[in-house]
Amino acid sequence: MIVSSDLRTTRIPLKYGSGQMPALGFGTLIPDPAVTVTATRDALEAGFRHFDCAERYGNEREVGGALEAGLAARGIAREDIFVTTKLWNNNHRPERVEPAFEASLDRLGLKYLDLYLIHTPFAFQPGDDQDPRDQNGNILYDRDVTLPDTWKAMESLVDHGKCRAIGLSDISLNELKPVYESARIKPAVVQVEAHPYLPETELLDFCKEKGVVLLAFAPLGHGMRPGLLEDPVITAVAKRVGKTPAQVLLAWAVQRGTALLTTPKSADRARENLNISELPQDAFDEINRIQTRQRLNQVVKTGVPGFIPRGSSS
Ligand SMILES: NC(=O)c1ccc[n+]([C@@H]2O[C@H](COP(=O)([O-])OP(=O)(O)OC[C@H]3O[C@@H](n4cnc5c(N)ncnc54)[C@H](OP(=O)(O)O)[C@@H]3O)[C@@H](O)[C@H]2O)c1
Repeated sequence: MIVSSDLRTTRIPLKYGSGQMPALGFGTLIPDPAVTVTATRDALEAGFRHFDCAERYGNEREVGGALEAGLAARGIAREDIFVTTKLWNNNHRPERVEPAFEASLDRLGLKYLDLYLIHTPFAFQPGDDQDPRDQNGNILYDRDVTLPDTWKAMESLVDHGKCRAIGLSDISLNELKPVYESARIKPAVVQVEAHPYLPETELLDFCKEKGVVLLAFAPLGHGMRPGLLEDPVITAVAKRVGKTPAQVLLAWAVQRGTALLTTPKSADRARENLNISELPQDAFDEINRIQTRQRLNQVVKTGVPGFIPRGSSS
C-alpha cells in the first residue's frame, strides 16, 4: 500500500479516489491567524506537502494565502500538494453541502480539493451558527438528516469533479461500517484520534482490509504534558535511537500504516517533525505493548469540539 520506504516521503495511494496522500500531514487547527500564516509557510518550506484544514477552524483564508505565497515563492505546483478541508456539523443537510464546499474552496483560493471530510457524524441545527444552542446551553442537534443523506451529497461533489476523494472524521467503527457498505463512492479516508494510548487497532484493521486510509490526529497526544511525549517507553526508545520523543511517535504512526497530522508552530519543529526514520522492530513492538489508554478528544461522543483553546474551534 505504501509507496516509499523512506518515512519522510511516504505517500499512500487512495484506493477510493485519485492521487496519493503524503503520510506526514500538517494540521491547521491554530487559533491565531498570524501564527496560522507563519506555521503554514514554515511547514511548506520544511517539506510538508499535505495540509489539513476545516471550515470550523475559521482560518481557511489564512491557510490559502500562505499556501499560495509559498507555492509561488518555491515554484511548487498545486498538484504537488494535498489539501483537505471539512464540512462542519451545521451544514449536514444535503442542500447545504455543495455551498459549504464552494465557500471553503473560495476561502482557500483553490480550484479543487484533494479530500473533503464530514468533520463529525453529528448534525447540528442547519444555519449559519456553527455552535447552535438552546437557552440552557445544550447543543441543538438536527434529527431530520441522516449520515447517509449527507454522504450522498458528498458523492455528488466527486461527480462534479472539484473534489478528488471524500471521507469521514471523528467516527467509530460501528458508525463507519454502514456508511462504507451503502456508499456508491466509498470513504477514501477516516480521520480519527490515534496514538499509542488510543491505537484504534480494530478500526485500523478494518481500514487496512478495505483499503481505507486511517489518518491519525493527535499523534503527539496534542503535545500535552504529562503525556505521550514524556512516556517512559517513548523517551527510552528516543534515547536509544537518537531521535526526539516526537520523532519516535510520528515514525511509529507511519510505520503502522497510518497517515498522520501534526501541528508544529515553528520552523525548527516543522523540520524536526519531518525528519523521522524507521524504528527498529523491537522498539516498534515495545511501543505497541504500551498499556495506558486515554482518549483526549471527546468530539467523537457529541460532535462538540473537544480539544481546542477556549474561544476557538476543533
Ligand atoms: N478531526 C478532528 O476533530 C480533529 C481534532 C483535533 C485535531 N485535528 C487535526 O489534527 C491536527 C493535529 O493536531 P494535534 O493537536 O493532534 O497535533 P499534535 O502535533 O499531536 O499536537 C500539537 C501540539 O504538540 C506540540 N508539538 C508539535 N511538535 C512538537 C515537537 N516536535 N516536540 C514537542 N511538542 C511538539 C505543539 O506545541 P506548540 O504549540 O508549542 O508548537 C502542540 O501543542 C490539527 O491541526 C487538525 O488539523 C482534527
